[in-house]
Amino acid sequence: MGKWFPRIYDIAMTPFEQATFKKVRKTLVNEATGRVLEIGSGTGVNFPHYKKATRVDAIEPNPLMRKQSLKRIKQSRVRIQTYSVQAEKLPFDDNTFDSVVATLVFCTIPDPVQAIKEIQRVSKPEASLFLFEHVRMDHPLLGRMQDGLTPIWLRMCDGCHLNRDTLGLLKSMNVSISRVDSLYRGLFLAIECSNNTQ
Ligand SMILES: C[S@@+](CC[C@H](N)C(=O)[O-])C[C@H]1O[C@@H](n2cnc3c(N)ncnc32)[C@H](O)[C@@H]1O
Repeated sequence: MGKWFPRIYDIAMTPFEQATFKKVRKTLVNEATGRVLEIGSGTGVNFPHYKKATRVDAIEPNPLMRKQSLKRIKQSRVRIQTYSVQAEKLPFDDNTFDSVVATLVFCTIPDPVQAIKEIQRVSKPEASLFLFEHVRMDHPLLGRMQDGLTPIWLRMCDGCHLNRDTLGLLKSMNVSISRVDSLYRGLFLAIECSNNTQ
């Protein structure tokens, strides 16, 4: 990973955060209750929005991102602990979490299928999953443009796939999708679902 990406991340995201993302994060994260797992917490942009969680275990493999999240941990109203691990291999027991939060991260996880399996393993049956992700658009031309841009985007944006079908992936796994809100013509989706594993 390049060192520049973590340094510019918050600044580059500011216009989007102010326009829409902050509101979406606030709504989703505020729903997370009990013991919460956050996947790829980055610079901790979601941390100020936790209100109902009893504690948050936040995994983030990039040390520079994690370091930047420290100031937000100090300001948070709930207890947050970060872990230097990847979503594909989680260091938690089965049936541990009541809620899982993942924002703008499934585009970057190298093996998203394995990550969902791990999330399902460590989540309690019927745990709530809250995702906010950019995805491949349904629009034929725009979707193909995303496909064409993805190879260069991957290099520029630290392994981010512009054209991941994260909703399709969730539908193929053992989860019940209860709500999908679309932003920017389906480029971004806020997804609420629950774990169906027993
Ligand atoms: C675009 S950033 C999003 C950060 C934050 N979730 C947000 O909403 O601003 C993607 C994050 O995913 C993390 N990441 C990459 N691969 C991962 C993996 N295998 N497991 C968990 N997180 C990963 C990156 O280090 C990075 O912090």
